[in-house]
Amino acid sequence: MKFQAIKGVRDILPPESTLWNRVEQAAREVFGTFGFAEIRLPIFEQTDLFARSVGQETDIVSKEMYVLEDHELPGLSGLRDHLLLRDPMVSDSQSFEQYLKTLKDFTEAFRKAVTSGIAPATPANQGALRGMDVSLAELTSLVGGQNETSSRTHVDMVRVELSSISFGDRITPRPEATASVVRAYIEHGMQVLPGNVKLYYMGPMFRRERPQKGRYRQFYQIGAEVLGTSDAPGIDAEVIEMLLAFFERVELKGAALSINSIGDKNCRPAYVEKLRAELQKVREQLGADSQRRIETNPLRVLDSKLESEQAVIEKLPRIAEHLCADCKSHYDEVKRQLDLRGIAYQENWRLVRGLDYYMRTTFEITAPGLGSQNAVCGGGRYDGLVELLGGPATTKGIGFAIGTDRLVLSLQEAGVSEVAGGAARSTGGLDVYLAWFGAAAQVAAVGLVRRLRDSGFVVELPAVEMKFGKSLGLADRLKARYAIIIGDDELAAGVVAVKRLADGKQQKLAEPELFSYLHAERNIK
Ligand code: HAM
Repeated sequence: MKFQAIKGVRDILPPESTLWNRVEQAAREVFGTFGFAEIRLPIFEQTDLFARSVGQETDIVSKEMYVLEDHELPGLSGLRDHLLLRDPMVSDSQSFEQYLKTLKDFTEAFRKAVTSGIAPATPANQGALRGMDVSLAELTSLVGGQNETSSRTHVDMVRVELSSISFGDRITPRPEATASVVRAYIEHGMQVLPGNVKLYYMGPMFRRERPQKGRYRQFYQIGAEVLGTSDAPGIDAEVIEMLLAFFERVELKGAALSINSIGDKNCRPAYVEKLRAELQKVREQLGADSQRRIETNPLRVLDSKLESEQAVIEKLPRIAEHLCADCKSHYDEVKRQLDLRGIAYQENWRLVRGLDYYMRTTFEITAPGLGSQNAVCGGGRYDGLVELLGGPATTKGIGFAIGTDRLVLSLQEAGVSEVAGGAARSTGGLDVYLAWFGAAAQVAAVGLVRRLRDSGFVVELPAVEMKFGKSLGLADRLKARYAIIIGDDELAAGVVAVKRLADGKQQKLAEPELFSYLHAERNIK
């Protein structure tokens, strides 16, 4: 059997991984200069954290989250699966009685697990236990008879109860990280910290989306969040400024910033109702998804990319005309703050974003070379989220997440394969290939390689002795800059032979001269 990476996930191989590291390193450096520090978050959270924060009706929560049941009852869940698959006939008394015995064993064991706290005592679990007791009694009374209809009805009822049981917490590999940051902020009482709490994170996220170019089921984000009591528009503008400074550092060309304000809990509900009423009037002109959203989440209709809906959407009422005075002045000030930083933007009234926690400022950045998945970053303000998750009502928040896969893709499309690596000393690639010949030379080589690596050179040391031609051939193929050769002659003379592979220039040097030579060459490289 041959294993392959599963659908929608992929390996990031060298040399592409070098570009990823450089991009991430650039983020650390740029974000650091804005006073942000890294938060390392768990990959798993309780499913409900995302359901509450991102919103039950969003695509992420309703369709794309992976949900796992985290429990310690493999035996019981195996028994449940076994029962779910059975279809016993009351007329076949042997199999019917066997089914009843298994069901009885399961019910008793599950009741014990709930009572002892191994399985959660949720209303659903307790209801399922009561339901199974009733069905078990009914089914037992049918034993020996022929009433197929009644037995089938109760077996079906048992099936429903079995399916509603949960053996433990529902957990989810994070589809995004803002909810986790807010959870951590509250859990660690970070509101007592002075000033705004500025955090950044990077790592994989998981959404069960239809894979295509720039869209994966495991993808990576670099994100940042500001949490604190102030919602000053200057914070919004500075977050965007930091983002653009980062894109400039990695030399992303053609990034375009769109902004919007989607109001707050004072003005948005009235707008949403107005939008819903207008959408009802044009319902027949909309596709099935948008029709459904009229009820569940009318704002999301504005996000539609469906060609046939565009003309209809253009005529819908716009939020900008329905913002309350506070939201309007906040938005105006965000724009003024962007202007005074010389940041160019486009206003896009349809930029509502696909997560429920946003309010007021929303923004997105698109980049070239990405086809339809051209949003390389999305973000916005989420002032009510901390309170929604049980934290202080006074804490406001704003942040963004960059899709690292898409950023790297856009850089590659533009021909960028290197990003200036800040503090990194090596320019990448192999500096030295050390060819040794004979057991004594290997001892000398091991010591020299250690000292070269300590000085920051990238060195390859063959693990077994090779023929001269083969060894030097490998140095060429690995694109080493220098080959160092140590054999009996060099050992006897207390030198090494060093060959610059670009032009074949070769000389014999003692170790101090070798280091001076390599350092000098590195500086002019
Ligand atoms: P989001 O818009 O869902 O926002 O994701 C942010 C970025 O992640 C997108 O613009 C895109 O570049 C990338 N992305 C999303 N899904 C995929 C995928 N399936 N494959 C590849 N890349 C993807 C958030 O996640 C918010 N938490 C952002 C935020 C932070 N808002 C405030 N703070």
